[in-house]
Amino acid sequence: MNALERLKSDYPWIQTPLVVGAPMRLIALADMAVEISKAGGIGFIGAGTDVSDLHTHLDNARKLLHSTTLSTNNDTLPIGIGFINWGANLSLTMPLIQQYKPAAVWFFAPSSLDSLADWTNILRHIRPEMKVWVQVGSVKEARDVVQRVRPDVLVVQGTDAGGHGLAQGAGLISLLPEVCDVLAGLTHPEWYAGPVVVAAGGIAEARGASAAMVLGASGVVLGTRFLACPEAKIARGYQKEVLRASDGGQSTARTKVYDTLRGTTGWAESHNARGILNQSYWDAVKGMSNEENMKLYDEEMGKGDAGWGEGARMTTYAGSAVGLVREVKGAGEIVREVRDGTKKLLEGAKAFL
Ligand SMILES: Cc1cc2nc3c(=O)[nH]c(=O)nc-3n(C[C@H](O)[C@H](O)[C@H](O)COP(=O)(O)O)c2cc1C
Repeated sequence: MNALERLKSDYPWIQTPLVVGAPMRLIALADMAVEISKAGGIGFIGAGTDVSDLHTHLDNARKLLHSTTLSTNNDTLPIGIGFINWGANLSLTMPLIQQYKPAAVWFFAPSSLDSLADWTNILRHIRPEMKVWVQVGSVKEARDVVQRVRPDVLVVQGTDAGGHGLAQGAGLISLLPEVCDVLAGLTHPEWYAGPVVVAAGGIAEARGASAAMVLGASGVVLGTRFLACPEAKIARGYQKEVLRASDGGQSTARTKVYDTLRGTTGWAESHNARGILNQSYWDAVKGMSNEENMKLYDEEMGKGDAGWGEGARMTTYAGSAVGLVREVKGAGEIVREVRDGTKKLLEGAKAFL
């Protein structure tokens, strides 16, 4: 089976080109994941590092999906769950997988390859039909992960991505083809087909999605774009700032400043996060102490939506494609827009031949 056939067989409700919703912690919950899957994409709930209330989100998803007729295999819930592995609790996760039967799990930033192998082996043992997705940010990571755990899907994350990722990275335009070349060397026609590759990072609409497909992806993942949908669990101030910001290479940066201010200290040195620049960032760059900056951040939290903005201090994680996000649109509509637009562009590309 080729990648497309595998996708259609593993996730029978999807339409292609495949559009996936990133598992954004605290933001992509049941509403967003379900709408994305209902539109023929694959939605992921962002469990992140804390799985203590994951059952609530899975319950909600199950209820929202109750009256739908999405085609699935083996009683599967047609959405996935995304974990930030260094902080998530595997023992608490196991019964939830058994109970709710998600179509896929998405792993990101494990503390080690051994720990990634534990998560993969144990959850595959519990539910063999569930697909394992792993997000990586470099050629080395791709090779190591594929050799060690043989994921069903490899999410290749370019440095334009919003939120967390490798501090040092490359954009998809060079990263993706190099990863695909390396993966080709790891496959075997008889016993290992390699993972399906999907692309993440800087893709906000059909043009980026088409480019990613040409570079070797079999589907695309969007995070930042879904910050501007009504299903996102996001403060209005945050969403307004995403709509305001443009020229993402200038208005966002990869930094550890926001993690420091928020007290999210568990991330490895190798990782930081891309967010829209604001006063906290500029003060940190100018040398303000973490203590003072954190105090001001805490004060800003009391301001509600006014706490977000260029001159304000609340964190606005978003990717460098933020300038392409200009309106709030339903998650399902976004999926359909990107999928249909990509189809058109790829068909239109024949005109260049
Ligand atoms: C606000 C936000 C939160 C995110 N949270 C997570 C997360 O919890 N787990 C994860 O694997 N990736 C997370 N990501 C990264 C996405 O998985 C994905 O790589 C990224 O959104 C793709 O780039 P884009 O934002 O340019 O679309 C997050 C991204 C954003 C923008």
